[in-house]
Amino acid sequence: MSKAKKLISHKTTHFKGAARVPGDKSISHRALMFGALTIGETIISGLLEGEDVLDTAGAMKAMGAHIEKDGSGLWKVHGVGIGGLKQPDTPLEMGNSGTSTRLLIGLVGGHPIKATFTGDASLTKRPMMRVITPLEKMGAQFEASEGGRLPLTVTGAKHALPIEYRLPVASAQVKSAVLLAGLNARGTTTVIEEKPTRDHTEKMLRAFGLEVEVEDLADGAQAVSVKGQQDMKPCAIDVPADPSSAAFPAVAASLIDGAEVRLGRVGVNERRNGVYRALQQLGADVSFEYERVEGGEEVADIVVRGGAVLKGCTIDPAIVPSMIDEFPVFAMAAACADGTTHMSGLEELRVKESDRLMMVANGLEACGVKLEMGEDSLTIYGTGKPPKGGAEIETALDHRIAMAFLVLGCVSEEPITIDDAAPIATSFPNFVALMNDLGADIKGI
Ligand code: S3P
Repeated sequence: MSKAKKLISHKTTHFKGAARVPGDKSISHRALMFGALTIGETIISGLLEGEDVLDTAGAMKAMGAHIEKDGSGLWKVHGVGIGGLKQPDTPLEMGNSGTSTRLLIGLVGGHPIKATFTGDASLTKRPMMRVITPLEKMGAQFEASEGGRLPLTVTGAKHALPIEYRLPVASAQVKSAVLLAGLNARGTTTVIEEKPTRDHTEKMLRAFGLEVEVEDLADGAQAVSVKGQQDMKPCAIDVPADPSSAAFPAVAASLIDGAEVRLGRVGVNERRNGVYRALQQLGADVSFEYERVEGGEEVADIVVRGGAVLKGCTIDPAIVPSMIDEFPVFAMAAACADGTTHMSGLEELRVKESDRLMMVANGLEACGVKLEMGEDSLTIYGTGKPPKGGAEIETALDHRIAMAFLVLGCVSEEPITIDDAAPIATSFPNFVALMNDLGADIKGI
């Protein structure tokens, strides 16, 4: 990550236009990883070229894949086949990226190779026991830092054992780590999830020619199963725009009178689009146009018009996994709404790139917002107008905290400064340019 740089966001009254936010981060990681498990050429268009995804590309190259970008912007991956990953010569540097780390720990865990994972000051604080526990059952061995954290060395199973595993936390990363280890197991690996989390792994494994079964269980949970040691076939992946990134201009538009933005070809997979449903519940004018399925993923143009009256509401905890990364920016909208917005079931926010519940609460309080934070909940008392602002926000190496408060600065009475813009490059490298093109006033200081 580059050096800390402060940014300041001033109030704007004009926010209009069409934009295409960069490619989906979750899908980009998986496209590179799965391409690396095939023999032949996988072609990826619209890949997110953020630091997190480039770290995944670096790791896959270190494990034997050939990955390059051609002159027309397409990424081409020549893989090694399932079971063919090579032992990396040096530690895998995962930067800020929890998704790269947990999914790759799964992949290495199912291969007879050893790899060490390291990361930045945020990633080395994040819990890895959630992947270590099931992967040990599959035969992988771990030497981790205190509390099951990075730096961590995995010695993958010589013959990975297929397991059936019920997720103790709602996590697509853990689900994916186990399924990816299962790709090289002799038999069928099953992950059971009680709350539906993003299903890009399942969908994309199918696109690569694998059979993935999804079964609804009597208790309401879902079982996802994949048979190991099948051949994956290379394919073409066209990555949709990231709904998590699109949420930043979408929230800004919903808060600015007279605003109108169209965000093109955004992924609106039901397990990812919760923030748009939550914004509609607040009263925002958000619609999906030209809904269609492309490459197995639902996409749409998201159109947001400002000026609607926003009223506080209670968010159903059942939709939390479908908007897990969008709570910081959703909280900015709630802070401008009239009345109380209550959000619960947020315990996973505490173990993201930062403790997001705390960072959001601290930042909003510094901007003059009244709220109450619980262990896993946040209640925001909106006054029906944007807060005072005028604060410098600590971002704790968290891209989404940084972008969320810059969005609030577009409407707060006084400008909002963030202490470090560097992490924005992990997921949305052109965030400032895109927002300013639409009318925001965000600049370095
Ligand atoms: C992701 C899953 C989510 C999400 C992360 C990306 C993925 O994490 O927060 O940004 O691509 O699988 P959890 O699985 O920890 O909820």
